[in-house]
Amino acid sequence: MPDVNKSVQDRKPTDTPTREAFRKLGVADLAEWRVTVPANNPDADARNLQSEFPMGWYCVCYSHDLAVGEVKPARYFGTDLVVWRGEDGVARVLKAYCPHAGADMSKGGKVCGNWLECPFHLWQWDEAGNPREIPYSVKPLKIDPDSTPRWHTREINGMILVWYHPDRGDPLWQPVVFDQVGRDDWTPLQTFDWKTANALENLSDNAVDVSHFKYVHGTNTVPDYEFEFNGIMRRIVAKLEFETSKGTARGTIESIAYGPGQGWVRYTGLTEMLMLTGTAPIDRDLLHTRFAFTHPKSEAEGPRGGLARAMIREVTSQFDQDKLIFDRHMRVDPPLVCQGDGPFGRNAKWFSQFYSKSGIAPRLPEPLPDFTIETA
Ligand code: FES
Ligand SMILES: [Fe+2]
Repeated sequence: MPDVNKSVQDRKPTDTPTREAFRKLGVADLAEWRVTVPANNPDADARNLQSEFPMGWYCVCYSHDLAVGEVKPARYFGTDLVVWRGEDGVARVLKAYCPHAGADMSKGGKVCGNWLECPFHLWQWDEAGNPREIPYSVKPLKIDPDSTPRWHTREINGMILVWYHPDRGDPLWQPVVFDQVGRDDWTPLQTFDWKTANALENLSDNAVDVSHFKYVHGTNTVPDYEFEFNGIMRRIVAKLEFETSKGTARGTIESIAYGPGQGWVRYTGLTEMLMLTGTAPIDRDLLHTRFAFTHPKSEAEGPRGGLARAMIREVTSQFDQDKLIFDRHMRVDPPLVCQGDGPFGRNAKWFSQFYSKSGIAPRLPEPLPDFTIETA
């Protein structure tokens, strides 16, 4: 009779089922696979997925994907949006459908100065949803501000972020800014995108699911973790061992979620690297995840540059493996938790503050940490 526990404990990293499945997929067109989801999934109700989009700041476009004068469609929070950059360089966001008579302004809309011109009757709109120019009418038009709710927008960290609130409330916190992005002594962002057929809270659970690192990602050991839940911030510090050509090396990964949509990971020990992350809900059962990496140029061009590239390959392929699970996962609520699982209950409580219907007001971490990252 085989000792099942022993055989699981002894599995080599290469034996994990997700690594196996991923090899069979082939990596010929990896970027396309990453943004493709199964076509035959049961619907969100049948999968018991959460029905509310959590409030927070979410990336809707990378800065480098939107030139001055450019108009782009974006779909998030079950809503079609239009994103444009005015001649003043400022990125702006509105609902895509024109309040006048419903044309989709993300298709054929034009930037005029800083305003967006609708392709149907050429009304021009500002980012607050006010019509600023109507070519055939001289009478000013008063509109109900609630008919075109404002999309609060910040452009930071090489990303265009919008604030989402289920009741259209104003921002309850501000996102964290990293001035390394765009600096001459740090590398330009190297970006990666995925679409995953799931809801955001379930992907958030993945970060505290300590046992899956060994069985999905094939890490040598279940790492040593510290968890801190502090207001809207969740901080996870993992001490890890990595196999390198020169033997086993040790490093630290500090992973912070600041609200449900903004995160960053700092790698120290092996290589200095900052990874900015963002996942935004597109629909109830569809997510857009972004990873963006930057390092000090001295690090990227120095002797440890190869190690940084290997880390990026490992981190992105780990998310590929997560996608294989989450694309088809069925939400179990509450999950059947055993000793050795991660703090799912604490994560669920932390996440609940982002649902308007929970009635829990999100609060800033106390004391407010200093997120400044010094370059060594
Ligand atoms: S529908 Fe946009 S101007 Fe008429
Ligand atoms: Fe994972």
